[in-house]
Amino acid sequence: MKVSVIGTGYVGLVTGACLAEVGHNVLCMDVDLKRIEILRMGEVPIYEPHLEGMIKRNVLEGRLAFTSKTEDCVSFSKVQMIAVGTPPGEDGSADLQYVIAVAKEIGRLTTDAKVIVNKSTVPVGTADLVFKTVKEQLKLRGLDIEVDVVSNPEFLKEGHAIEDFMRPERIIIGTESQNAVKIMKRLYAPFERNHDKMLIMDSRSAEFTKYAANAMLATRISFMNELSSLAEKVDADIEWVRKGIGSDSRIGYQFLYPGVGYGGSCFPKDVKALLHLGREKGVHLEVLSSVEKINKEQRNFFVNKIRRYFDQNLKNKKSQSGDLPLNPILTICGKRLVSISSRV
Ligand SMILES: NC(=O)c1ccc[n+]([C@@H]2O[C@H](COP(=O)([O-])OP(=O)(O)OC[C@H]3O[C@@H](n4cnc5c(N)ncnc54)[C@H](O)[C@@H]3O)[C@@H](O)[C@H]2O)c1
Repeated sequence: MKVSVIGTGYVGLVTGACLAEVGHNVLCMDVDLKRIEILRMGEVPIYEPHLEGMIKRNVLEGRLAFTSKTEDCVSFSKVQMIAVGTPPGEDGSADLQYVIAVAKEIGRLTTDAKVIVNKSTVPVGTADLVFKTVKEQLKLRGLDIEVDVVSNPEFLKEGHAIEDFMRPERIIIGTESQNAVKIMKRLYAPFERNHDKMLIMDSRSAEFTKYAANAMLATRISFMNELSSLAEKVDADIEWVRKGIGSDSRIGYQFLYPGVGYGGSCFPKDVKALLHLGREKGVHLEVLSSVEKINKEQRNFFVNKIRRYFDQNLKNKKSQSGDLPLNPILTICGKRLVSISSRV
């Protein structure tokens, strides 16, 4: 089956490579000319275990190609996957300008029916907005072409992305169109040979699910960070507490590590976006507000701990490797932030 992937960043590149790996014919597009040039030269702009080999193999076997031309991408296939960034705007809401720009381009260029699959993390209601945007562009050209929109959020973890994509725990398909469901079933059939992994729901619930998942994981981290402060006061070791509760199958071990708080490209922005949605709809999200507050405070907590350890004197404190002034503490504490949380 032919698939176009628009946006060849982390998610787009992994998606394109994995879809090609299972036999689909994939054209990945990006507006970043340099990125496309690098990929065409056989290099990979990000490090992700197994990705380079997978790209090389599929390019060589003719199932994966790269372009910077939107028109080539739009005409290539019926299925158009969107995987562009959705960075936080100033008010915390997800900035949809790149998603909408892609929708406009598809509407401006397409001459036949499309199934638009959104893999970017987007606010509830974006599928409707994408549909409206494409339809408006078509109307400007006097066309009435069939357009289906699917919300198909991505759950991969950086550093584990190939494994996550190739063996997903679930595939969320959010759409109101039965035609799109049929196409998504064909697209993802190779990933659910073992058992049925597809959860088919309406597009709004699918969009919400992605934010809810990241918010839940962020909550676990802030919860453990909060408990680590108390553990320190009562001279308990949070690392033992982590193992003690993680061994409960209702709780599990993942995302229970106390430390300097969550970071990365997704959790901070997705928590912010969900809080923004709550404010917009007049629903105060008490738990999530605290999650964000604890996360911010955790950085100060960590730095203050280091200051206390060195009697407030961090002058000339450097890591063995050179210029990271706060690093010695990591070595002293057995290289584990959890130890720092509970012991220093
Ligand atoms: N990185 C992750 O771990 C991860 C995991 C799950 C979901 N997501 C979500 O997936 C989306 C993409 O994230 P990412 O990490 O791949 O971002 P990224 O910044 O790595 O990639 C986005 C790419 O889109 C390109 N782009 C922007 N506008 C374009 C346009 N009009 N046409 C074509 N290409 C365009 C950019 O040049 C860039 O290469 C985000 O919504 C993110 O929240 C990311």
